[in-house]
Amino acid sequence: MRIKSKDIDWGADVEQQFIRQASWTRAYRNQIYRQIGMIKARNLLEVGCGTGVITKELQEKTSAKITAIDFDKSMIDIAKDYVSDVRFLTENVEELSFKDKSFDFVVCHYFLLWISNPEKALSEIARVCKRDATIVALSEPDYGAWIEYPEMGLGKYHIEYLQKEGADPFIGRKILSLFESAGLETELSVVAQTWNQNLLKENIGEEWKRVLEAELITKKEFDEIIKKENKLIKKNQRMIFIPVFTAIGRKK
Ligand SMILES: C[S@@+](CC[C@H](N)C(=O)[O-])C[C@H]1O[C@@H](n2cnc3c(N)ncnc32)[C@H](O)[C@@H]1O
Repeated sequence: MRIKSKDIDWGADVEQQFIRQASWTRAYRNQIYRQIGMIKARNLLEVGCGTGVITKELQEKTSAKITAIDFDKSMIDIAKDYVSDVRFLTENVEELSFKDKSFDFVVCHYFLLWISNPEKALSEIARVCKRDATIVALSEPDYGAWIEYPEMGLGKYHIEYLQKEGADPFIGRKILSLFESAGLETELSVVAQTWNQNLLKENIGEEWKRVLEAELITKKEFDEIIKKENKLIKKNQRMIFIPVFTAIGRKK
């Protein structure tokens, strides 16, 4: 399904796109879940759940009562079909309906970069958390630190595309200070994500397709780029790197 709402065009087949994105950092997330003792969560809130990819994963990791919110009703509708036994609500993270001190865990994934007011979002999240609750922002990228070789401009196009959609491509470097400003005692970690030959084969077309869909290149340019990419990848001479940050906060 193609979803274009709240002025963001999520592209064709949004479910597959979110599954694909989440697959890149699965091993890293599992490590984080162990580190934060997710298994002992009792009342967990996921914010910006999208189509429910991470919601399903959280359900497998804990027996907590899960509430998941997204401000986009069409996302919530997909998520409800994808995962059962979760309380899904259409809500804006900047104005949560929950009482103070309702949750002991809050999780979000690939989310803060899309928020127009992350300070407000984090103060709301902190408000609905109990004392000592764990708040984790998983997989917040920083496209400013993207490296690719040979230089074909994919990183620069992604920055342009994200900014056009109202996202912050530099969120990764900011999340520590955003968390601390919300009164959370915070630990920052990073995974240095590089795509191997197989991942490049699977993903490069989709990544350039987003640039094409954002009308930053023409179809003719797209076809030429893909031809060049395929040649490089076949020879294992294509390299892409992006750091992806996670913040783990504790409510004081
Ligand atoms: C890139 S998607 C990530 C979805 C999901 N966390 C995942 O990783 O598959 C970001 C999601 O944040 C939601 N979103 C953006 N701003 C929001 C806000 N202010 N309140 C609630 N949800 C919001 C969007 O509707 C979208 O579903």
